[in-house]
Amino acid sequence: MKSVLKVEGLRMEFGGLVAVNDVSFDVGVGEFVGLIGPNGCGKSTTFNCISGLLDQTAGSVEVFGMDASEMRPDQIQQLGVTRTFQHTRLWRQMTVIENLLVPPRRQFSPNPFLAFLQPNSRPAEQERLSNAYAVLDQLEVPHMAENLTSELSGGQSKLVDIGRSMMGDPALLLLDEPVAGVAGPLALKIFNNLRKTVDETGISVLIIEHNMDFILRQGVDRIIVMKEGEVLMQGTPDEVRGNRAVIEAYLGAAGDSGGEEE
Ligand SMILES: Nc1ncnc2c1ncn2[C@@H]1O[C@H](COP(=O)(O)OP(=O)(O)OP(=O)(O)O)[C@@H](O)[C@H]1O
Ligand SMILES: [Mg+2]
Repeated sequence: MKSVLKVEGLRMEFGGLVAVNDVSFDVGVGEFVGLIGPNGCGKSTTFNCISGLLDQTAGSVEVFGMDASEMRPDQIQQLGVTRTFQHTRLWRQMTVIENLLVPPRRQFSPNPFLAFLQPNSRPAEQERLSNAYAVLDQLEVPHMAENLTSELSGGQSKLVDIGRSMMGDPALLLLDEPVAGVAGPLALKIFNNLRKTVDETGISVLIIEHNMDFILRQGVDRIIVMKEGEVLMQGTPDEVRGNRAVIEAYLGAAGDSGGEEE
């Protein structure tokens, strides 16, 4: 399978702490992949290295066949990679649709003054707006467009955050616990929508999820399991479910299949 993302021998040290140790995995075109593991095992740090927010201590990150190891976050985004953060931060005093129109944090758009001087800036703006409505349609929440985000539930806010990451037709979405703290039915809906988006558009999704029971049942193609900074195993949900090391990791000290959050 052709890879959109290839992580090889990734290592991230913070002072004396090795947060990520020799992590390697691929994500294929049109693949929906879960990244799971107990608290503090290095999932978000792995995302931070891939998206260029952290300079890894060692190892490489390849995006669409290009070496992205030394790229800045905006350059990686230009390649078609967007991400969400574990703690959702929306512009609370703005509506849902306005939030979708703001470029993601730390991922910069072209100079707005130059855009203003360009004669075709208005059509571009129109296109962005129709894109925003299309994203809300895809997430099945077009009715939320004019709501202030301060009025949304935690789950709805997470949905808007995913919507923001889908703006600009990304080819690879990195989602950091998009359903943490979201009520069961809405969490299910979010997963189903992601599955549908992957199937309909052929984009690839790498999703961090805490709840093992949940990720095993919600239609991901493959799961990467991390423990203490390392990849413990990767395989299909069935393979992960039957793996003794995974069962032990989850029944061990952490014993965490989605309990406490954040
Ligand atoms: N910027 C940082 N500086 C120092 N230590 C960090 C930093 N970011 C993460 N760490 C540490 O690296 C380890 C991995 O953290 P990380 O956030 O990647 O874990 P995680 O798997 O995402 O956990 P959780 O499930 O709780 O979100 C932890 O021990 C954490 O305290
Ligand atoms: Mg995390």
